[in-house]
Amino acid sequence: MKKVTAPDITALKGQRKISMVTAYDYPSGQIVDAAEVDMILVGDSLGMVVLGYEDTLSVTMDDMLHHAAAVSRGAKRALIVGDLPFMAYQPSVQMAVENAGKFLSRTGARAVKLEGGFPFLEHVRAIIDSGIPVQGHIGLTPQHVARFGGFKAQGKNARSAAALVDEALALEAAGCFSIVLEAVPHEVAQEITARLSIPTIGIGAGPDTDGQVLVYHDILGLFDRFVPMFVKKFAQLRGESIDAVKRYIAEVSDGSFPAEGNFSRMDPEELKRFKSLLQDKV
Ligand code: KIV
Repeated sequence: MKKVTAPDITALKGQRKISMVTAYDYPSGQIVDAAEVDMILVGDSLGMVVLGYEDTLSVTMDDMLHHAAAVSRGAKRALIVGDLPFMAYQPSVQMAVENAGKFLSRTGARAVKLEGGFPFLEHVRAIIDSGIPVQGHIGLTPQHVARFGGFKAQGKNARSAAALVDEALALEAAGCFSIVLEAVPHEVAQEITARLSIPTIGIGAGPDTDGQVLVYHDILGLFDRFVPMFVKKFAQLRGESIDAVKRYIAEVSDGSFPAEGNFSRMDPEELKRFKSLLQDKV
């Protein structure tokens, strides 16, 4: 089975829409890969939807490597993108290259993503020069939640919208193979998509980006604490899971589980021997 590569993703621009979904462990990696998604993002949203933090700021590089390795044991076809967490790249270009390298050498990720534009162009170039494809991410970049004062849409006024266009062009010039546009107005995403020759992957950026990305737990309706307006739940697994566990508890209490077929029985001859051995013991 041919693995999807970063150049494959870049080549899809203008050919067809690109799909990307997050995954955080072996089963979610297997499921999204079986659905034939193009890219799997092992996102630092891990912190919120899997580890239960309020935001993504506490996620560590070790957390990301642990989960990316599990995803790559489950996913054999899609391009796996490792998300550089807060403070894994910001402090220096060298740190950015070293941590990006860990995703490739210790997990099956074959690209990394980092949040932010202008302040990190040198970091992006150095990572790419080391042989690692980089996906940019601008707009609402959750690692800036403290500076933004919350999870707030970006590029809503003319000046900040124009700055996003410049930032996207700069990331393209730095060598990114694609760019995530998060929570920016449709018109801004449309303009950026038209001006870039690399694909834009939108989340809360309208229908005219080259592809879309959503969080696994949001698609499946597994995460209820924070549901942005751009999320569409394609299933309601949280409710179904609670019902399933409730039915299990009920069957344990009324004795109907485990039933015949859920356990084994001894061969009758062995059972006879077993009983006689027990008799010898009394
Ligand atoms: O961490 C993440 O899941 C992300 C996506 C929302 C783009 O960065």
